[in-house]
Amino acid sequence: MNTELYCDISANYVKNYHPNLFSWIELADLINIRPLLTQERVKLLDPENRFFQWYTNGWIKDKNTYPPSLIKCLLEEMVIYFVDMSRATKKINKFASSIEDQYKCHVDAHIYVCRDPKIEHPFAAHFDISHNVIVQCEGKTNFKVWEKVEDHKVKKQIHLNMSKEKPILDVIMETGDALWIPKYYPHQAISLTPRLSVSFPFVNDENGTHEQSFEDRNWITL
Ligand SMILES: [Fe+2]
Repeated sequence: MNTELYCDISANYVKNYHPNLFSWIELADLINIRPLLTQERVKLLDPENRFFQWYTNGWIKDKNTYPPSLIKCLLEEMVIYFVDMSRATKKINKFASSIEDQYKCHVDAHIYVCRDPKIEHPFAAHFDISHNVIVQCEGKTNFKVWEKVEDHKVKKQIHLNMSKEKPILDVIMETGDALWIPKYYPHQAISLTPRLSVSFPFVNDENGTHEQSFEDRNWITL
């Protein structure tokens, strides 16, 4: 893995940066582990904002975990992303560790899943307050990135109408490609095929709000 992805302070795109980071098969393996599927980790981007309920048997310790079959059904009709996934696999953990080593920052991994490109992506153009490395793991996604927003007064993400602005990057990401989007750079993703990607948001933070200890990146073997 080279480091040229991050060295540019502007948005940056590298073909075939990490060709085997994560796959549909590995995602299915995760979804089958029900204790992982808490409502805090699984983010449903449901256009109808529905509320789901289910029965649990007496052995289940976390009643708020989605049944895997329900997640499979919901994946057919909405975009879902999973947070707190930086130790989901050995490869994702290693990638997160490489960013932490380079930037001395705290990294999460968010797994984005769109099983049907006809599903409208709910995120319009927006910018984030963290830097982000996005790795396309399966399928194709059109990513547009626009010039940095200079007014940082906005605390959180805002939605922007960038349709008249010319993007500084307009790329079709394929399996293994990676994109580096610094904070405050507006961006928009449009799935062109079924899509699986992992994004690594991180903050090397001038406000000092991330003073927690670093994640344990040791990958144990027995
Ligand atoms: Fe974003």
